Amino acid sequence: MKRLNGINKIKLAVFISGRGSNLISLIRFTSKKESKFIIKLVISSNPKAKGINFANKYKINKKIVNYNGSTKNDNLILKELKKNKIDTICLAGFMKILSKNLIKKFDGKIFNIHPSLLPKYKGLNTHFRAIKNKEKFSGCTVHLVNSKLDSGKIVLQKKVRVSNNDTPKTLEKKILTQEHILYPKALNKFYFNR
Ligand code: GRF
Repeated sequence: MKRLNGINKIKLAVFISGRGSNLISLIRFTSKKESKFIIKLVISSNPKAKGINFANKYKINKKIVNYNGSTKNDNLILKELKKNKIDTICLAGFMKILSKNLIKKFDGKIFNIHPSLLPKYKGLNTHFRAIKNKEKFSGCTVHLVNSKLDSGKIVLQKKVRVSNNDTPKTLEKKILTQEHILYPKALNKFYFNR
């Protein structure tokens, strides 16, 4: 496969608020020689997010924005996105709701990963709710972001079996492992249909 130089790659900004396990999985994916994507920017809504360490370690530009959806916040983020020539935003555990304005500016180019089989269990505490409802399967979804919470077009999903003895913690762990595989796959599927 032809090796792409940095200029031709699709430039990603990853938005985080915490642990950053999806961020590191995306860093590993984009670090492969044949990858058609490159992470140019990490935005964290939380100055204490563990995931920021990954941006530091891999020398990725980062910006901490205590996001509240204000025009000032949006302009700050838009400036960073422009400066880094970002094509696509990947939300990865970003615990804030993006403003309509920001979503409109990047329409069709913002992805999110959610720990359930959407449209089931939008919002928080997905694993707890799936177990409480005695679901046989749960899983994860990569979807496009629109102005309604966890409701944009689904790009890819992965089913995970819920065992009788699963707790929200064990189920989270099983699903998280699949999230790390699903996000890179979904990006490849969306942009290159492969
Ligand atoms: C993941 O479960 C993701 O699906 C959800 O938030 C969690 C983020 O985890 N949106 P991490 O920060 O990527 O480890």
